[in-house]
Amino acid sequence: MYTQAMDLAPQDERLALQATGDAEREARFEAHVAAGGWVEPKDWMPDHYRRTLVRQISQHAHSEIVGMLPEGNWVTRAPTLERKTILLAKIQDEAGHGLYLYAAAETLGTSRDEMLAALHSGQAKYSSIFNYPTLTWADIGTIGWLVDGAAIMNQVPLTRCSYAPYARAMVRVCREESFHQRQGFSSLLTMMKDGTGEQRAMVQDAVDRWWWPCLMMFGPPDGQSVHGAQSARWGIKRVSNDELRQKFVDACVQQAEVLGVTLPDPDLKWNDARGHWDFGAIDWSEFWRVVGGHGPCNRERLAARVKAWDDGAWVREAALAHAQKQAARAAKTLEAA
Ligand SMILES: [Fe+2]
Ligand SMILES: [Fe+2]
Repeated sequence: MYTQAMDLAPQDERLALQATGDAEREARFEAHVAAGGWVEPKDWMPDHYRRTLVRQISQHAHSEIVGMLPEGNWVTRAPTLERKTILLAKIQDEAGHGLYLYAAAETLGTSRDEMLAALHSGQAKYSSIFNYPTLTWADIGTIGWLVDGAAIMNQVPLTRCSYAPYARAMVRVCREESFHQRQGFSSLLTMMKDGTGEQRAMVQDAVDRWWWPCLMMFGPPDGQSVHGAQSARWGIKRVSNDELRQKFVDACVQQAEVLGVTLPDPDLKWNDARGHWDFGAIDWSEFWRVVGGHGPCNRERLAARVKAWDDGAWVREAALAHAQKQAARAAKTLEAA
């Protein structure tokens, strides 16, 4: 599932694309991506395509680093050394995902400083799921199982996204997300199988709270998705929100059974004709409220993120000073030679 062939277009085809007029270029670009071609940073691309990708990749990067915050709160409270090590490794992976993605977005001509400024001012969005609180240790397992599980569903098709740097970043990210999902599931399974009644209740409570927000992670229904059709045409989004959501529900029902938890949806029912699980109506007003900045933790997350940035100023300054010192030393050595 994670292998890929990222062949670059032949050099003569690229040069031909750059040599033609805008309307013609656009038509050739559309034909190129429609035929499943990759787009590399130096290739000509329509402005709208570039802007769409900057928005999507930077939001994705922001989600990775904001997602570290609710989990970071639990490092000191992990119940065993093994779980603590696993959680630390996962959080570190998420930082890495943020870095690959910021780097991929930078290839489109936007600086990391600009992207972070947009995040810190509240202008840029990140995944609404991280605006929910992590109340107990079971929330951490549930995030791994459901939130990272939903992320995998969303991200696997992105390994075939037409913008090659994004697609390449996604290959590694998806491998790591798979570990995140499994560690969450394993943590919940331990509590459900070997835990006390209280621990089992804690898991059920966490699943009750996270299930619906996780279904919202796939975005609005296809009919209401603003960017959906265009992104599909450009090969940025290969599978629609509703299709991904359905795949996620289908996968989770079976996993919930293994865990011994109940998914909090009385309308969840196998539909033989469709070959899928039917599920209840999603409260989209909640989704829009959280996206609009009024979720339970929006303010807290952003404040924690801005504080982390401000507290890290001395590290950035020290790294710059060190680099300048080294450059000056190298210049001196060159002069002396
Ligand atoms: Fe991630
Ligand atoms: Fe993850």
